[in-house]
Amino acid sequence: MTETSESKTGARIERLPLARFTTLGVGGEAEVWFVSDHQQLAEAMAQPYRILGGGSNLVIDDGGVPERVIRLSGPLAGRNLTPDAELSDGDLIVTGWVGGGVPLPGLIRALQKLGYSNLEGTVGIPAQVGGAVWMNAGTRYGEMFGGLHTLEIATPDGLKVVTPDDLRWGYRDSGIPRNHIVTRVRLKLQRSTPEEVLAKMTLADTARKGQPKMKTPGCAFKNPGGMGAGRLIDEAGLKGAQVGGALIAPEHANFIVNLGGATAADVHALLDLIRARVGVPLELEYELWPDDMQRQGMPVSAGAQWSAELK
Ligand code: FAD
Ligand code: EPU
Repeated sequence: MTETSESKTGARIERLPLARFTTLGVGGEAEVWFVSDHQQLAEAMAQPYRILGGGSNLVIDDGGVPERVIRLSGPLAGRNLTPDAELSDGDLIVTGWVGGGVPLPGLIRALQKLGYSNLEGTVGIPAQVGGAVWMNAGTRYGEMFGGLHTLEIATPDGLKVVTPDDLRWGYRDSGIPRNHIVTRVRLKLQRSTPEEVLAKMTLADTARKGQPKMKTPGCAFKNPGGMGAGRLIDEAGLKGAQVGGALIAPEHANFIVNLGGATAADVHALLDLIRARVGVPLELEYELWPDDMQRQGMPVSAGAQWSAELK
């Protein structure tokens, strides 16, 4: 039986296996805080924490993580797509607030129906808005920062509202420090038609046809300097390599899939094999929990160390 309790400010707290929140389907238990407003978020951030989005870029150890894991819910997972009358102008649409906890696929479908363009290139990314913004997720048809007007970010020093120009963002990188939480964003969109947006979505979708359909956290490595990591891993002859329940996908070598019963250790072993066999240094795209923090020498708790400037 899972134990449920409530924090002082009303956040629901439950000890849960994180596997159920990840697209890889791997990960042990942690204390999950479901926070639905800024007050609850501030309380949750007062102790060591991690922020969990759609779990589509995570490999979480089978022992889980010791920190509390924050999940945005309620109004922080709600969306207001009505054009803001003051900020919108002609075909330029600036929406109301869209919560960091909003699932990206549903948002992209809704924008298509409204005929609002700019974010359709991100179709097929199974993230939440906050996680997709934090990583600047995208494809060659478009990325999250192509459709952002304003970002609200919870930092250890309180809430900050910034624009993309305030951040050093780039390929798979928002420039937002780790564990600063993207709570809400306003989208900057271009008025188009549902048909045109759908046509662009179809292009982006077609580019994914060769990707595996099994449980996976997406691409393992970023593409190094214009080269395809998938092609490099493929050329190293690693497609089909298997450790335990984890497999380098025969469809696309930059995807590791869970055949059923994979453990985080199985995935780590495949990542090590790839690093050892590919002649080019590869930067991991996944987050490894809990190792990522130690690997990057970052403190795991909130506190003064995190008052890094956003730019
Ligand atoms: P999570 O996996 O939950 O977390 C990832 C990181 O984001 C963690 O550090 C977490 O702490 C942080 N984070 C989560 N929420 C927030 C928040 N609100 N504020 C601040 N930080 C937060 N990626 C692409 O870029 N392009 C693709 O085409 C693509 N295709 C994919 C296809 C599949 C089938 C899968 C499984 C993944 C794919 N990905 C792709 C990878 C993944 O979807 C992205 O990396 C995405 O940005 C992860 O978002 P998330 O919400 O799932 O974050
Ligand atoms: N290729 C191979 N062997 C493979 C895989 C790919 O030779 O095993 C070749 C393909 O034939 C193609 C080239 O490599 O010529 C590029 O492959 P692909 O078109 O699949 O694109 P990618 O660069 O591997 C990127 C993103 C994906 C995104 C797609 C579609 C990265 C790391 N990956 O893949 O993003 O969905 O483009 O736009 O940038 C992710 O980041 O998690 C992700 C899935």
